[in-house]
Amino acid sequence: MKFPVDLLADVSQAELQRLAHIYMNDLLYKNPDSPERLALPGSPEVSINITSVGFLPLYGSSDEHRILALFSPSDPLTAVALYLLDQWWTVEDILRTADPARDGALEVETTGERIVLYILNRVIYRTKEMSSDELPFLCHGENDHAKILWNDGEAVGFYSVKPSGSLCSASSDRRYQLPVMDSVFVRTCHRGKGFGVWMLEDFVLTYKDYYLGLKYPLSKSMYKVCDKYLRQYPGDADLLWEVESVGGPKQRTSISRKLQAMNLKSKSLTFTGDSVITEVTENKMEDIATQIGEPVSVDGTVEEVPALRMSKESCEAMASLLPLLSMLLGFLSVAQSQLRVFDLRATGLPADVFGTVKPDGYVKVFCGASTLGITSIRHNEVNPWWGEEFSNFSAQENDILRLEVHDSDLVFDDLLGVCQRQIKPGTNEHDCFLQEGGTIHYSYTLG
Ligand SMILES: CC(C)(COP(=O)(O)OP(=O)(O)OC[C@H]1O[C@@H](n2cnc3c(N)ncnc32)[C@H](O)[C@@H]1OP(=O)(O)O)[C@@H](O)C(=O)NCCC(=O)NCCS
Repeated sequence: MKFPVDLLADVSQAELQRLAHIYMNDLLYKNPDSPERLALPGSPEVSINITSVGFLPLYGSSDEHRILALFSPSDPLTAVALYLLDQWWTVEDILRTADPARDGALEVETTGERIVLYILNRVIYRTKEMSSDELPFLCHGENDHAKILWNDGEAVGFYSVKPSGSLCSASSDRRYQLPVMDSVFVRTCHRGKGFGVWMLEDFVLTYKDYYLGLKYPLSKSMYKVCDKYLRQYPGDADLLWEVESVGGPKQRTSISRKLQAMNLKSKSLTFTGDSVITEVTENKMEDIATQIGEPVSVDGTVEEVPALRMSKESCEAMASLLPLLSMLLGFLSVAQSQLRVFDLRATGLPADVFGTVKPDGYVKVFCGASTLGITSIRHNEVNPWWGEEFSNFSAQENDILRLEVHDSDLVFDDLLGVCQRQIKPGTNEHDCFLQEGGTIHYSYTLG
């Protein structure tokens, strides 16, 4: 039996859409009391009627290319089947192939392969298999470079790449400065079998370059994959970089050195005591390319807020001055201050990538284009609180208040999450979920 990816090798997206519209027209005139039904593996049958089907955009924001989907009554936002050619196909069948030659990491080219990529990313990962400490990938575009990993007649994962020189986004003229692996995924039931490393190897072999990027922030599992890869290929230590934005010189961090620092931190705190920390010398820290000119928002768009870059020493020096600064600002604010941010508390901050070391959390506070300040670092604290208050004299209603929660590290601090919202008059309290895990609570007064 052939599956959609085998049948759709030469079928255009326009043809699929035309057939789906004809089917929809027929459905309008069908007797609603005796609907067609589709059997789903391990679930009750789903009735197919005009209320349970709808068109989905295949490439995210573009509404031009759409596929007809069937939704389950228990979860009306998740597609359980697609109408392709002249029949309904369950999600699991869409991920299968009858072609034995379809094996290994293969370029996504045909309409059928684009649909498989969509299902893996938007249905399997996004709605079923993404864990709370991972970030969703954006939709893949019509021309995005991607490969699907086929194994034993099944699509088990994918990765996508922004090639060097390609545009960062449609609304920007900035271009990627190196090939960047933009997304990578292996189905949960196939993890731990080496497929992650396999795709990384394939990326290295396909995009031969002096430097290769992996999109920031890497998930914990992806650090493990890189660690394993670099142990297998120690000669590639300078090849892999964690990259923000387009990967300019100040937007890359050496993955090999970051892993070394993580291993050091992990070992120093777990096994050998704090003395090991001093072995990471200042010189070594300077060797490592620093990160990040532009912060990236949750949805992946680059914001224009300049990032605050400070050395660890200046962070700590500033933190120690904060009570005094806050007091001075407090005096001034009696007459002038409009915005006051206070009562910063976090809960459930994540441990390091190896799950062994508690976080050293601190918060950077911004309003509009102004930097309001930075809290002290709360060492080894999963549920830290900070007594500092921050003021701004010229804030206005609807300005963006932005809090960045970081985990201070020996070499590079990790961004645990960003919260931002438009400020409103009065005293307000908010809780915000952090992308890497945990929650931050804060209050502010405007007016
Ligand atoms: C990251 C991901 C692609 C790895 O896929 P995978 O097929 O499990 O990776 P591999 O089997 O090649 O694993 C390589 C090594 O990393 C280890 N590893 C991977 N994930 C791990 C985890 N969560 N915890 C501990 N070890 C892990 C494996 O055990 C293996 O080491 P070993 O062979 O010494 O046991 C997969 O976990 C995934 O899809 N995650 C969700 C999406 C994601 O995080 N993508 C990356 C975005 S940056």
